[in-house]
Amino acid sequence: MRVLVITASKHGSTRQVGEVIAARIGAGGHDVLTRDAELVGEADLVLAEAVVLGSAIYGARPLSSATALATRLAEEVTGPVWLFAVGLKSVTRDPLRPAATRPNHGGFRSGAVPVFGGVVDDAGLSRAERALIGALGASGRDARDLELVGAWADAVALQVTAAAQGSSSTLPVV
Ligand SMILES: Cc1cc2nc3c(=O)[nH]c(=O)nc-3n(C[C@H](O)[C@H](O)[C@H](O)COP(=O)(O)O)c2cc1C
Repeated sequence: MRVLVITASKHGSTRQVGEVIAARIGAGGHDVLTRDAELVGEADLVLAEAVVLGSAIYGARPLSSATALATRLAEEVTGPVWLFAVGLKSVTRDPLRPAATRPNHGGFRSGAVPVFGGVVDDAGLSRAERALIGALGASGRDARDLELVGAWADAVALQVTAAAQGSSSTLPVV
């Protein structure tokens, strides 16, 4: 299946998570394309048979480019869509449980979106961001677990494979 992995990232860690997911789904035998949320074109959505969309969390919200895309995906993509987020608060303890690995057309507020641990690299932050992160006591925090991300991606890849087999099994038997 043609799978589009989209990430909305300000400082790169969500993009990194997306690359891990893309590599694992690709290793599952699928044709994977990665895109930044701001650069997703109409053709990308038309060609995608399944989509994974992830966003960094800032100020307790996903980035607006991701929320806008989640709405578009619900309207324009008929294949399965998976959502994920990357942040430092409310990191999902068990993103491998079925509810967190199922396709999700409900948007980031649906409640079933796994949050993977992110990272704060103070060197890349603006002054305002650094002040905020300092006040929150999150300076230099690194909560990344790319193995766990890979395991989640494997669960998604299995479902993409099942969806592909499901669609081929509807072909007439001759
Ligand atoms: C200014 C700022 C605000 C943040 N606000 C939140 C937040 O409200 N909730 C959260 O879970 N993480 C928050 N984070 C942590 C980011 O989600 C985390 O650093 C993430 O890895 C950033 O992703 P990115 O590198 O793709 O931009 C914040 C980070 C910064 C720098």
